[in-house]
Formats: sequence, C-alpha cells, structure tokens
Amino acid sequence: MMKIVLAESELELVPESIRHHKSVKRPKDGGGVLLDSNFHHSAMKDLPEAYKRGRPDIVHVCLLNALDSPLNRAGSLEFYVHTRNDDVIEMSPKWRVPRSYNRFVGLMENLFEQRTIEHDKDMLLNMKKMGLAELIDSISDGMEVKLMHYQGRRYAPSEDSVIIIGGFPHGDFKEDLGFEKYSICSEELMAWSVVNHVIYTL
Ligand SMILES: C[S@@+](CC[C@H](N)C(=O)[O-])C[C@H]1O[C@@H](n2cnc3c(N)ncnc32)[C@H](O)[C@@H]1O
Repeated sequence: MMKIVLAESELELVPESIRHHKSVKRPKDGGGVLLDSNFHHSAMKDLPEAYKRGRPDIVHVCLLNALDSPLNRAGSLEFYVHTRNDDVIEMSPKWRVPRSYNRFVGLMENLFEQRTIEHDKDMLLNMKKMGLAELIDSISDGMEVKLMHYQGRRYAPSEDSVIIIGGFPHGDFKEDLGFEKYSICSEELMAWSVVNHVIYTL
C-alpha cells in the first residue's frame, strides 16, 4: 500500500479579513468562497505568504492524476490532502474527482461547510482538523515515511511507504518533521509531476 499525503496544500476559504473585498463574490447561500489567487489576487496583497496561497488547482490536478491511476484502481493507494490550516481530507478511492475545475471548487466549498460528502450513504470525502505530524502518525503504521524534496537522497519506489509531497507552488515546508528527504532530480518539479512519478514508478 502506498499512502500519499499532499501536505500544507494551499486549499482554504477566503479569510475573514478580505471577505468583503470587491473581488470576492458572495454566494447567495452565504457560504464560504474558496481562495483562488487567479480571482482574488488584488484582495490577497496584504495576506501573509500571499505569494503561495490560493492554489486549489494544484490539489485538483494531483487528485485527478492519483485517483484515476492503475495503482488506485487496484486498491493499493490511499491519498490524503492536508492544508495550510490543518484541515485534513480523507477520501474514498472510488470518488470520481470532478473533471471540471469549477465543479471541483463548488464541491470543496461544500466540504468546508458540511465537513463530509456522501453518495448513497457511502462516504466520499471527510474533512477533519488534524496537524501534519498527527496525520502521519495515525496512518504510517510502521511504514517508512519519505518526504519528497528536490534536495535529498535519490528516490527509489518501495511498497508500503508514506510519501509526503508539498501541495504548494513555492517555498519550502513550514514544518520540519525530521523525515528523510528523497529527491527525483535536482530541479524543483510541480507537485502533480511528483505525484505521477511516485505512483507510476511503483
Ligand atoms: C512545487 S514544489 C514546491 C516548491 C519548492 N521550492 C520545492 O521544490 O521544494 C511542490 C513539492 O513537490 C516536491 N518536489 C518538487 N521537486 C521535487 C524533486 N525534484 N524531487 C522530489 N520532490 C520534489 C516537494 O515535495 C515539494 O514540496
């Protein structure tokens, strides 16, 4: 079993401090709006770490790739999304990730509100508050934990491992959890390329 954690992902609702900015459309139902740097760029200027925030597209592309993979179809992959605000998303491997980005955004906004999404009483998505260290501790079950980083030991696939990949576009992990770092090459790759590499080399 391979377990992938997309860590410190830039998936969050628009913070209260910029909620009333003119670039943030308020939905009629009064619910939250997903922060997206494409649309909320001007509102985000004064947010801390604005240069890396508001990137749900990274999570979307990683999920599209991972959940459609042969490894997942064979029941040998668990995928978790951990966010900058310590929201953790668990998912059914049978969940069909919306192909359309807009539908994905709508679903994530519902998930932030409802914390769970079901279909025919089966859990598709569940969101809970949990820090990265606690998440790794709860899923690793004695397995080797590999933190993917462009500077590290040469990565080689192995079954029964927990793979941590940063779900952010720039910068480094905020938290150093002390796991061994593994590298695919010395250049910085996008998260979805790393997701594909670890899945398809296994
Ligand atoms: C877009 S990168 C984040 C940018 C960051 N400067 C970096 O590469 O560490 C997203 C994530 O992909 C993984 N990653 C990027 N390049 C990698 C490489 N060459 N080998 C292994 N993992 C890599 C890391 O987990 C990283 O946090």
